[in-house]
Amino acid sequence: MTKLTNKELLKELPALFNINLNSDKSGNNIFIKLKNIFEFDYGYIYYLNPDTVQLKYSNINKELIDKTYKISKKDIKFLYSDKNCILNEQSSIIKSLNFIGGKSYILSKLAVGETVFGFIILGSKKPDFYAEQELSVLETCSSILSYVIKDLELSNVFKIQLKALKDGLIEKNNAYKIIKEQNEKILEADKVKTEFLANVSHELRTPLNAILGFSEILSEELYGELNSKQKEYISDIRVSGLHLLGMINEILDISKIEAHAVKLVRSEFNIMKALREVATILKPLATKKGIRIIIDCENDFKVNADYQKIQQILYNLVNNAIKFSPENDEIELCAIKRKDKFILKVHDNGIGIDPKYHGKIFAKFVQLDSAYTKKESSTGLGLTITKELTELHDGKISIVSKVNNGSTFIIEIPQ
Ligand SMILES: Nc1ncnc2c1ncn2[C@@H]1O[C@H](COP(=O)(O)OP(=O)(O)OP(=O)(O)O)[C@@H](O)[C@H]1O
Ligand SMILES: [Mg+2]
Repeated sequence: MTKLTNKELLKELPALFNINLNSDKSGNNIFIKLKNIFEFDYGYIYYLNPDTVQLKYSNINKELIDKTYKISKKDIKFLYSDKNCILNEQSSIIKSLNFIGGKSYILSKLAVGETVFGFIILGSKKPDFYAEQELSVLETCSSILSYVIKDLELSNVFKIQLKALKDGLIEKNNAYKIIKEQNEKILEADKVKTEFLANVSHELRTPLNAILGFSEILSEELYGELNSKQKEYISDIRVSGLHLLGMINEILDISKIEAHAVKLVRSEFNIMKALREVATILKPLATKKGIRIIIDCENDFKVNADYQKIQQILYNLVNNAIKFSPENDEIELCAIKRKDKFILKVHDNGIGIDPKYHGKIFAKFVQLDSAYTKKESSTGLGLTITKELTELHDGKISIVSKVNNGSTFIIEIPQ
């Protein structure tokens, strides 16, 4: 029997929305509120599983909360339907749930939308205590309770997710901190290395200049004539010294580039002049191998760039071309004018480069295995510097080459 008139019931229902289940494991607050509406001795709320039901809240038998009960297939089917009912102590559902002492019951489903997730049972010690009227009031109450219970579950899930998110963020933050610290250490180590290389290279240059200068003076025979053996040795000292100076200069250059200490000094100049000068500087080296350098360029072709750096680019590429060509061959050097850029090409008919290494040879100290690299002592920095200097001009470098088929290095500089 409900205790209330319809008007009083309308006043009680909103209170159901405010039930606080947060720290109320047994659902006491639900049953306290329901007591304002119904007379009952036993109150139970169950969740539905595929073939069992689980007690979730109760005003008595609190020690049985979370216990599961096996239910017949027929009853489970009924419990999953949207039908509600009045039951007595003989009903199979009541028997399966082990109720003791109750004589009459009303049962109503808990559902969210179309999905039934549980049910509520109120029971009385008195027989035939409930009628259709109570059942329809309980239906209204259970739709409100469905909302309250699901809301609690969602907020619990939300809390768990929030915690997981927080833990994840903390973990991520720690990882980020470690990476940042390691990164700083690496950058610091790289800086120290660059400074060390620059200092050592500089210190090496001073005595080397003395060696080169004195061997030059001796070879001029100002302080007495030299015999042929002495002349030969002095020449060897000079050639080896120059070679060593070239390597030290490369290390110094790359250190400066990495320290961002290299700036462009742009001017307008005749590219033909730069090509001729490089060919002249490298002529002794080329002649030694019987190699001819051919220049192909318009006579009055002006470009805007850093003269010294363009010379250095050409020097490195022509130097490689000579190094990796067979004797008595030809090397072509050409400059091409385009609307918005100029192109420099250095072509040789030498050993070529396997396309799989095209991306790698620009990295520092990379030298491919060949008879030529074994013979020559060099650092493997020439192309690295060349690429950096090209990119300082906002330009790009590319290669066309195959093994045993010669190589063409192409530099494009925007204008
Ligand atoms: N024209 C070329 N033909 C064939 N291989 C080349 C050519 N130019 C470069 N390479 C390959 O690329 C590697 C890197 O070239 P890079 O100029 O950087 O170094 P290097 O000439 O060996 O030494 P360095 O220039 O420092 O004296 C060379 O060792 C060589 O294996
Ligand atoms: Mg080189």
